[in-house]
Amino acid sequence: MFYPVYRARRIRGKEVFRNMVRETAISANDLIYPMFSAFGKGIKKEISSMPGIYQQSIENIVEEAQEAYELGVPAVILFGIPEQKDAMGSDAYSESGIIQETIRAIKKEVPKLAVITDVCMCEYTDHGHCGVIKNGDVDNDETLELLAREALSHAKAGADMVAPSDMMDGRVAAIRESLDNNGFNHIPLMSYAVKYASGYYGPFREAAESTPQFGDRRSYQMDPGNRLEAIREARMDVEEGADILMVKPGLPYLDIVREVRNEFNLPTAVYNVSGEYSMVKAAAKMGWIDEDRVIMETMMSFKRAGADLILTYHSKEVAKLLRKGY
Ligand code: PBG
Ligand code: ZN
Repeated sequence: MFYPVYRARRIRGKEVFRNMVRETAISANDLIYPMFSAFGKGIKKEISSMPGIYQQSIENIVEEAQEAYELGVPAVILFGIPEQKDAMGSDAYSESGIIQETIRAIKKEVPKLAVITDVCMCEYTDHGHCGVIKNGDVDNDETLELLAREALSHAKAGADMVAPSDMMDGRVAAIRESLDNNGFNHIPLMSYAVKYASGYYGPFREAAESTPQFGDRRSYQMDPGNRLEAIREARMDVEEGADILMVKPGLPYLDIVREVRNEFNLPTAVYNVSGEYSMVKAAAKMGWIDEDRVIMETMMSFKRAGADLILTYHSKEVAKLLRKGY
């Protein structure tokens, strides 16, 4: 008769022991909830490919921000749908821009909720690219100036943290300098350090109305085949003063989350992007998966891969499930 000395199943037999030896925990403290702020009044328009997620005007966004905060979600990240778009994306850095107004409204009504802003041009440019177009492509250095203005205007409006997602080279340094020179050296910067050119952003572009009107984003976002380049991108941002490094998308790039976490001593964030959310919602709607279970398993995978923070459209659901003892 053969007896295994180590029986892996012994410790799995009772829930109490499974709970005791679990290596990874999910906490509501780690969640960042993305929200879409639309110009106007009385707007609450569900995004067809993202059930439960809305484009909404400021009074409605404030209400949902309050709800998220009460559920235990500590932070939101804001995206804007401005009244007007133009070639230079001027609403992005206008004092009365959509995001600036939204920051002020949320900070007034829900002061303890951390407001993070996405810093990019694509929601504000009429061509939908993440910067200024010159000779048919996004011009890196001219874009830096606008990003620096945008981040500063968010800080002036009361943002607690800024998060550049444009993928221009040198933008962390440019934004850091503009914040530091204007009395905002205490505002942390979360860099979308490793951002791949991904098909998983499809539903977001419906939500943010930011689809490029020509071409695609492959001349500035990363090629999905690259792993070493991820480390180079992250290192550049560390050297320029990033406080938090983000990897995006999440599930298809968990290996990169782990590498970035191991390589740098910085808090690491992962963005569980729109397409990942839509796939879960679609399968759940078909009755093909147990949605709650799949959501929590997904969150667990991010933590296991080394993520400290999770940007997810599931934030409110996760907070609710945690309260139920999940
Ligand atoms: C803007 C931006 C995008 C996302 C976050 N910031 C879209 C893009 O780069 O096309 C994607 C988020 C998501 O898919 O949930 N630069
Ligand atoms: Zn962009």
